[in-house]
Amino acid sequence: MRILITAGPTREPIDAVRYIGNRSSGKMGAALAEAAIRAKHQPALILGPVSHPMPPGIRRIDVQTAAEMSRAVLDEFPAHDLLIMAAAVADFRPSRVVPGKIARDGKLSIECEATEDILAIVGGIKRPDQRTVGFSLESAGNIQRATEKLRAKKLDLIVYNPIDTIGRDSIECSLLFADGRVEHLGCRTKVEVADILIQKAVVL
Ligand code: CTP
Repeated sequence: MRILITAGPTREPIDAVRYIGNRSSGKMGAALAEAAIRAKHQPALILGPVSHPMPPGIRRIDVQTAAEMSRAVLDEFPAHDLLIMAAAVADFRPSRVVPGKIARDGKLSIECEATEDILAIVGGIKRPDQRTVGFSLESAGNIQRATEKLRAKKLDLIVYNPIDTIGRDSIECSLLFADGRVEHLGCRTKVEVADILIQKAVVL
């Protein structure tokens, strides 16, 4: 199966040197790509700026911003059977990028606009033979919000995990399926979660 995986953060420029970013490490994306290779699938990665090592030889497309990630996903998705969005896409970007460097001069307000919701766009155009999987990083116990995202983005599966898993090697997560099934995986390493997720996602 051809599996497209996004991972890492996006960076939304404020001026020539600063950006809005987040702490996503890309570890889950690397684990997913490795799991897909172990299971003899053909993965490709669309990656925000990460320093975590990725499997050697894998096809990878490096991007910086949510807009670049959106374009890359829309270009690549038609040639794939499954999209797994593990990327922590920035939800907002500065409405205007200031040329040069903003001087430290009193207060600074940055007006932002929403970025494109990549999974929601893909949910609207996916073919009947294509599947999409998302991640939902929520405050502990807020599983209902993950269910709402599953529906709103027309996903086949969403991985619910609490916010404190960011950057860690292990996560406590649950899999919520479009047909209403819920599987609580308990505390597992990202490598274990990746193996389980690939197994479940390829038979959706
Ligand atoms: N996602 C996306 N495009 C965005 C933001 C998020 O495709 N602009 C994807 C993420 O990669 C993830 C899923 O949507 O797989 C859920 O991301 P999350 O940040 O939890 O949800 P949001 O829709 O951004 O909602 P909120 O930030 O309000 O919780």
